[in-house]
Amino acid sequence: MLICRTKKEWLDGRAQMEDRGSIALVPTMGALHQGHLQLVEQANTDYDQVVMTIFVNPLQFGEGEDYDHYPRQEEADIEKAKAAGVDVLWVPSVQEIYPRDPAVTVRVGKMSERLCGRHRPGHFDGMATVVMKFLQLVRPNAAYFGKKDSQQLAILTRMCEDFHLDVTVVGGETVREEDGLALSSRNVFLSEGERKEAPLLYETLKEGKERFRQEKMSPATLEREILASLSERITASIDYVELLTYPSLEPLHENDKDEQLIFAAAVRYPQARLIDNVIFERD
Ligand code: PAJ
Repeated sequence: MLICRTKKEWLDGRAQMEDRGSIALVPTMGALHQGHLQLVEQANTDYDQVVMTIFVNPLQFGEGEDYDHYPRQEEADIEKAKAAGVDVLWVPSVQEIYPRDPAVTVRVGKMSERLCGRHRPGHFDGMATVVMKFLQLVRPNAAYFGKKDSQQLAILTRMCEDFHLDVTVVGGETVREEDGLALSSRNVFLSEGERKEAPLLYETLKEGKERFRQEKMSPATLEREILASLSERITASIDYVELLTYPSLEPLHENDKDEQLIFAAAVRYPQARLIDNVIFERD
């Protein structure tokens, strides 16, 4: 596995990849776990070469968020990336990606006003800006993103369409612990008690999905009832419980095109914010 740090090293590496077939990109912020590695596996099956980036992107963290505390474990990440079959690992510095204050950035419209966007102002603009940079610098045939962050996946799919980027955006299934908790680099910040109750986030979303299907209640009633049930079952404070169409992320009555729905929630423990979602067919 080739490891690049500077932009120059990366561009030299990229030049060598030119004659070796198709390229898939898996962007990450590191602290790698099976969720990231499954994307690599999928990318490796579909494309000849896999590039992974590890970059904790300051632009997508708001004030008071965990940029400074985000887990950084480069040595372990290098080993995991190598074992998973990454061909080129690019670990740029902040200086390399943002040599000066950007004058032009990506701004996400309405899709960032819902779900996590409402609670993390500027997050999706910063995320989309860095992914745009990596897509320009890597010029991959495909880019892989996980469905644990379905709003991110939906926004990036639209970004690539709207900017006519010649890249296939692929979504990977959410990888979970045995008890259902979605793998996340932030799970290490949960206390023992929090870790025990955290799978109830996914459980409660699944129950909500079933109730919505069977009881034919309105989205507002479902959101209210599941919010109440979640707050009884877990100690975290709840940012949102929301049912929208997928992938447009619109209220059900405003959209009759999407064939799927997303039922998503975010909760805040003192040291970790967790998100999860279920996506299902609209009846
Ligand atoms: P990060 O949180 O490191 O996640 C990198 C990729 O792994 C994302 O596409 C994310 O959706 C996926 N992923 C994380 N946990 C997963 C799980 N349990 N199952 C499946 N996929 C999972 O998401 C980011 O980084 C950043 O926003 C990034 C896209 C790199 C831009 O900075």
